[in-house]
Amino acid sequence: MAQVKTIAVIGAGIMGRGIAHAAAIGGYRTILEDLLPTALRRAESEIRANLDKAVELGKVSSPDADAAFRRLEYAGSVEDAAREADLVIEAVPEEMESKIEIFTLLDKICRPATILASNTSSLSVTEIASVTYRAKKCVGMHFFNPVHKMMLLEVVRALETDDDALATALEVGKRMGREVVVIKESPGFITSRINAMIGNEAFYMLQEGIASAADIDKALKLGLNHPMGPFELVDLVGLDTRLNILEYLHKSLGEKYRPAPLLVQYVKAGRLGRKSGRGVYEYPEGAATAKTADSAPSETVLAVSRQVSSSTSHGA
Ligand SMILES: NC(=O)c1ccc[n+]([C@@H]2O[C@H](COP(=O)([O-])OP(=O)(O)OC[C@H]3O[C@@H](n4cnc5c(N)ncnc54)[C@H](O)[C@@H]3O)[C@@H](O)[C@H]2O)c1
Repeated sequence: MAQVKTIAVIGAGIMGRGIAHAAAIGGYRTILEDLLPTALRRAESEIRANLDKAVELGKVSSPDADAAFRRLEYAGSVEDAAREADLVIEAVPEEMESKIEIFTLLDKICRPATILASNTSSLSVTEIASVTYRAKKCVGMHFFNPVHKMMLLEVVRALETDDDALATALEVGKRMGREVVVIKESPGFITSRINAMIGNEAFYMLQEGIASAADIDKALKLGLNHPMGPFELVDLVGLDTRLNILEYLHKSLGEKYRPAPLLVQYVKAGRLGRKSGRGVYEYPEGAATAKTADSAPSETVLAVSRQVSSSTSHGA
C-alpha cells in the first residue's frame, strides 16, 4: 500500500475545505488549492471556526486542533499544490470537462506513484481516469456534506483501479475518521442515485402545487424520519450541483432521472441554495433563518429553519 504523508485538495468550495479539514485532523500535511483566492481565504476561516467548535464540544483537544490547523497550507496553483502530494483529492464542480482538465494536468505534474482521487458525486471515475497514463492509480473518494460532521465515505473502484490504490483510499479514509463502503463504479454510486431521485420527485411535487416546500420537508422529516427535508438538503448541497448530478443520471440511467423543470428554472435564475443566498428558501445575510420561497406560513418556515441549522445529515 502507498505511504501517504501529503494530501493535496483541488477546489476549496463546500467540499474541498471540509476534506482538507478532515485530512489535517487525520495527521496529513494538507495543501488546499483553488482558482479563486477568496475561496481559499473563506476556507481558512471556516476550517478555523469548525476546529474551534470541535474543541468547544470536546471532540478535539485544543493542541490537536492547533496542530491540525498548522498542517494546512494554501496554494495558488494546481502545480504548487500537487507537486509533492502522495494523494490528490479533486473537488472542483461536478462537470466532466472540469474533472478531465484537472486530471490531465495532475497526471503531468504528479509523481508516477501519486494516487489521484475524485470527490465526484456521480460521474464515471473510469472516464475521468482515462485521460491519464495512470488509470490504475485513480479512484473515487466521495465525502459527504458537511465533511466534518458526516462520517460516510464511498470509495469507488473504477474499471482499472488497482488493489493498492483502493487499499490506500480505504486506509486514508479510516485515518480521516470515516466509515467506508466500497462500490463498484456505477452512476451516482449508492447515495447520490437514491438521493437525487427523492429530491427530484420533491421538485415535481412542488411544481404540481401538491404542497408547499415547507410542508413537503415537514412530511419527509416527521412522516418518514428523514433528518432533513429534501428542499433543506438541496439548498445545502447546491441546486446547480444537484442538477448536474441529475443530468448525468438521466443521460446514463434513463428517463426516470429527468430533472424537474422547476429545478432547472431555479438554477437558471441563480437560485443555487445557501451559497447564493437563495434556493428553494431564502437566506437573509447574517441570519440563521430560512424564509420559504413559496406560500408556507412564517411560523412553519421558522420552525423549519431552526431544524435546518441544528441538523447534520446531508449528501449531494
Ligand atoms: N455540495 C455537496 O453537498 C457535495 C457532496 C458530496 C460531493 N460533492 C462533489 O464535490 C465536488 C465539489 O462540489 P462543491 O459543492 O464543493 O462545489 P463548490 O462550487 O462549492 O466548489 C467548487 C470549487 O472549485 C473551484 N474550482 C473550479 N474550477 C477549478 C479549477 N480548475 N481549479 C481549482 N479550483 C477550481 C471553485 O472556485 C470552487 O471554489 C463536486 O464534484 C460535487 O459533486 C458535493
